[in-house]
Amino acid sequence: MSKFAAPKGVSEYFPPRSQNFEFVRNTLIGEAVVSGYQLIELPVFEDTELFKRGVGESTDVVSKEMYTFEDRGGRSITLRPEGTAGVMRSVIENNLDKGQLPVKIWYSGAFFRAERPQAGRYRQFYQVGVEAIGLSEPEIDVEVIAIADRAFKKLGLKKYRLDITSLGDASSRAAHRVDLIKFIEGLNLDDATAVRAKLNPLRLFDDKRPEISSAMSKAPVLLDYLSEESRKSFESVKSLLEDFGIAYQINPRMVRGLDYYTGTTFEFVHELLGAQSGIGGGGRYDGLMSQLGGADLSGIGFGLGVDRILLACEAEGIFSSDAVTSSLEIYLIPLGSENTKFVTNLLNQLRNSGVIADMSYGDRALKGAMKSADKSGAKYSCVIGESEISSGSLTLKEMKSGVTKEVRIDSLAQALKEI
Ligand code: HAM
Repeated sequence: MSKFAAPKGVSEYFPPRSQNFEFVRNTLIGEAVVSGYQLIELPVFEDTELFKRGVGESTDVVSKEMYTFEDRGGRSITLRPEGTAGVMRSVIENNLDKGQLPVKIWYSGAFFRAERPQAGRYRQFYQVGVEAIGLSEPEIDVEVIAIADRAFKKLGLKKYRLDITSLGDASSRAAHRVDLIKFIEGLNLDDATAVRAKLNPLRLFDDKRPEISSAMSKAPVLLDYLSEESRKSFESVKSLLEDFGIAYQINPRMVRGLDYYTGTTFEFVHELLGAQSGIGGGGRYDGLMSQLGGADLSGIGFGLGVDRILLACEAEGIFSSDAVTSSLEIYLIPLGSENTKFVTNLLNQLRNSGVIADMSYGDRALKGAMKSADKSGAKYSCVIGESEISSGSLTLKEMKSGVTKEVRIDSLAQALKEI
């Protein structure tokens, strides 16, 4: 056994499952790209203050879960627990908000939260996210939601739902806050909870303790306090979702784990994942950019949990075998060590013409090499020995069906491209 183990609670992907992870991640990214979003690559650590200000001190993420340390220059640094605050920082710092709006960007990478590890909840996890900054039209809200929904459908997921609500504009929230605080004052809260409620009274909707959640079931909900403008905008969002064929469920008690949300907020929930069922979530954040020192622009985005989406795909049986998403097109097997040089050169030519190819290295018995071909997940394999080389043609075998086909060696790349 190795002397070392990965730190507790981190997710790791290694072959063959890493191929499925990569497939899921690339499918999510692909849909962002299709909608005109461009890559932003950001540092995984930032000034701690950015997250305190951006994400909010009332949140578990900031108050309990950040990996914060002092660097060698005595600065307080935090491993990014989420992506939106860093994106805003970069957009402001690099003046992207001064150009064409909306700024539409996607990102993908590791995020860090010191949570209690359990299935689907990790201390290092992966997100694919998008942010659309600078327009507050409901069409953008639906564009963002549709990216996630299209990606889930493309992956073949069926057992998920979209929960959606609106947190309204500043006047909606102010009106609701007055009544909510009045309501909360009538509850008998312990000191810590009262402090939390003071920072953000909406947090109490997310409190899982039975006595609190039962008391909060009678609390006033924001959806009943929407201003005329917010109500109209939310109606447009719902109506466009219907046009797009995206089913949704209104959940007026939904509370996202981050404080910056305003307006449309949403979560995708998967039915087969148990306690950690949120496969992605997001929403609008009207005040975030100005809060971080930028222009007063609205934005909307999401973060999709790649780890959980992979688990959801597995739970729905989307990957029938471990390496089903292997991208290998062909696996070459040299018969006899004297033919290895020929096969190695053929492999190089195939790769030069863009065929994803591999071969059985080393002087292995045919049986073992065939097994490796099977395990590789390649679509085709072929054995190349003296007779193939002298005749200039080989037998291409489709691994799944066992069906074979004679192909000229010098037109192998072409033949693979055609099939
Ligand atoms: P979030 O809801 O905190 O939002 O995270 C988004 C997704 O990341 C979750 O739905 C979940 O799938 C995944 N996730 C979160 N924590 C963990 C964990 N410990 N282990 C595994 N997966 C996890 C945000 O992060 C916002 N920045 C999203 C956003 C972008 N809102 C607007 N723009």
